[in-house]
Amino acid sequence: MPVIVLCSTKGGVGKSTTALVLAQVFSAAGKATTLIDADPNQPLATWAKRFSGNVPENLHVQGGINEETIVDAIDTAAAQHPFVIVDLEGSANLTASYAISRADLVLIPMRGKQLDADQAGRVVALIERESKAFRRRIEYRVVFSMATALVTKELKHIRATLEQKGIPILPAALKEKAAFSAMFQIGGTIFDLTDEDVSNPKSAIDNAKELALAVTNTLKEAEAAAA
Ligand SMILES: Nc1ncnc2c1ncn2[C@@H]1O[C@H](COP(=O)(O)OP(=O)(O)O)[C@@H](O)[C@H]1O
Ligand SMILES: [Mg+2]
Repeated sequence: MPVIVLCSTKGGVGKSTTALVLAQVFSAAGKATTLIDADPNQPLATWAKRFSGNVPENLHVQGGINEETIVDAIDTAAAQHPFVIVDLEGSANLTASYAISRADLVLIPMRGKQLDADQAGRVVALIERESKAFRRRIEYRVVFSMATALVTKELKHIRATLEQKGIPILPAALKEKAAFSAMFQIGGTIFDLTDEDVSNPKSAIDNAKELALAVTNTLKEAEAAAA
């Protein structure tokens, strides 16, 4: 069931990477997952096609989705599979609005950069307008998607600003790791990567699981709050 939508008005902030990592963890945990690629550039559909032999059987990647087909695609997938993850293009278009209208959780990935934070604010405003329009609370979280051990002044300031504005941050971040970009180049999942492919694939897997757990906990909390 739950529909998780990756949205930002900016490209290059980690939407597709986060979407694919989450889908890989859920499917590896035995939960069939539909990954809807609604970006006209088709990064996830390309990954699935290029390495079709290495895509887990219970991970269904659906490409070619646009503003005309997204609502039906989400509803059909949500009726079939325990998880639906939607990856969007980096712009506030009709496809994004429709996807948000169906979301149980919108994740807004960003790096610790002021320009990303400004765009994250635009997405939050869009979600809040949709909440009003549909008279339903739409849950969202900012997620830091290329986190490094270095905590810069800029990052501290951004965190403080988000907190001040009451914008919730997911309690786990996706760390910047070679494994998370290598999966697009080598194919397959992070669970298939060896020490020869990238250094310490195990740490990427642990981080991916930690992120997925934060997402499922947030979904549970939201469901409990709505009940
Ligand atoms: N956690 C990460 N670790 C390493 N590289 C990352 C990570 N997240 C994103 N990237 C890289 O940053 C670039 C942009 O990420 P992508 O997921 O395509 O962003 P978006 O979908 O928002 O445009 C890609 O080259 C991707 O491989
Ligand atoms: Mg993308």
